[in-house]
Amino acid sequence: MTDTPTKDPTSTTKEPGTGRSKKRRTSAEDKELLSEIMMSLGIGEQGTPVPQETPNRKIEELVAGLPALSPRDMNEKLQQLGYRGQERARRAVTLMAYRHVSRLRWLFLDKRNENEIGGKQNLLLLGPTGSGKTFLIESLFGSILKLPTVIVDVTPFSETGYVGQDPNNILTRLYHVADRDPELTQVGIIALDEFDKLASNQNNAVFAGAGTTKDITGMGVQRELLKMLEAADVTAPVEMTHSSYVETVTINTRNIAFIGIGAFSGFAGIVNRFRAGKVAGFFSSAAEKRRFDETAIAVDLDPEEVENVAYFQTYGFLPELIARFHRVVPFAPLDRPVLREILLDNFLKKAIAEFRLENIELVVPDEVVDHLVSAAVKRETGARGLNTFLFTFLEEQAYSWFGSGVEKTVELFMEGERIRSRAV
Ligand SMILES: Nc1ncnc2c1ncn2[C@@H]1O[C@H](COP(=O)(O)OP(=O)(O)OP(=O)(O)O)[C@@H](O)[C@H]1O
Ligand SMILES: [Mg+2]
Repeated sequence: MTDTPTKDPTSTTKEPGTGRSKKRRTSAEDKELLSEIMMSLGIGEQGTPVPQETPNRKIEELVAGLPALSPRDMNEKLQQLGYRGQERARRAVTLMAYRHVSRLRWLFLDKRNENEIGGKQNLLLLGPTGSGKTFLIESLFGSILKLPTVIVDVTPFSETGYVGQDPNNILTRLYHVADRDPELTQVGIIALDEFDKLASNQNNAVFAGAGTTKDITGMGVQRELLKMLEAADVTAPVEMTHSSYVETVTINTRNIAFIGIGAFSGFAGIVNRFRAGKVAGFFSSAAEKRRFDETAIAVDLDPEEVENVAYFQTYGFLPELIARFHRVVPFAPLDRPVLREILLDNFLKKAIAEFRLENIELVVPDEVVDHLVSAAVKRETGARGLNTFLFTFLEEQAYSWFGSGVEKTVELFMEGERIRSRAV
């Protein structure tokens, strides 16, 4: 479902030299081993106690090197990267990012005590498909801030009988992008993409009323995440493997920010049921009677509407898991003007540049742009697929002229309700 370039560190091959050989130790190695043991017992070379905490230069370097950007600056950078619309969500996420960076500075550079400053912030992003949830996290944390960031599709974790997808592997992935440094791993960002797929009774809840059946696997994963999201020492395998005989590394998740991301389709239906008083124990106020169009995928929810943990419980989540997200950020469906901007500023611009490299001038008139935007609105897929859709109409001409060296002008035009292309 995701077509974003998810960083997948699992594809990295095993490092050479990680397997230990069984040859006899030399006396130098013996000495080293002995001194290691003495160090671990707190006895130094001359019998002096070894300081318990050795500062990790790498982490200080990383934190010192984080760009000093205000939330507004981050917004500006996102704009430069082609991010459009979602002002409300962007404000919430850039502010969270800013606070995350400040917190890391206080902890690792100013060496302030953890109790003096607030805890980390986890976010839950919710909104229709193709509205820029994954794209925002990837751009902000991965490209702009350059913090160790992984976007993990959690879908496999919810499937019954899927061997080896231990939720702790999520940390293994972060460990890989953090240069296999346990300390650096501990300041990373973990985006749990397709988070809504972890709902234990999603189908019941969404399509048949408040759910009663529990999918054990889904709940199991949620319980595992419960510990991870707060602060826990988690033992993760250093390699993504099915074998249980594998080296492990302990990662503390106290400073890792977790971002749950999901479309939560059917969520509006739950809100409606609560409003209509169909869910026991919930008293809806008269002001909350507005109903959503449940059949539409692209539903715009207000922030107050998504803050209610009970909605998520009905959806199939442990309330205590949802409570560990400090803020729920709703993403609105992208409207026509924003889709148009994305099409013009990102996709069309790139297509024009690519055609120019082939000596071809690409002309796409306004009425064609309008038609492409209308199609995206109709499909309710947001900006997802907009690029592919555009390219389907360019494909024929691109096939004919790319690499030919012939100078051409390729033009898209409307023929009735259809988009056509011609080369002159
Ligand atoms: N607000 C936006 N600004 C610019 N481009 C966008 C925006 N939203 C989406 N896009 C484009 O659409 C693509 C898909 O968006 P993204 O992966 O962020 O969707 P999503 O909200 O995570 O949807 P899903 O719930 O289906 O995963 C992005 O790679 C990007 O090219
Ligand atoms: Mg996504």
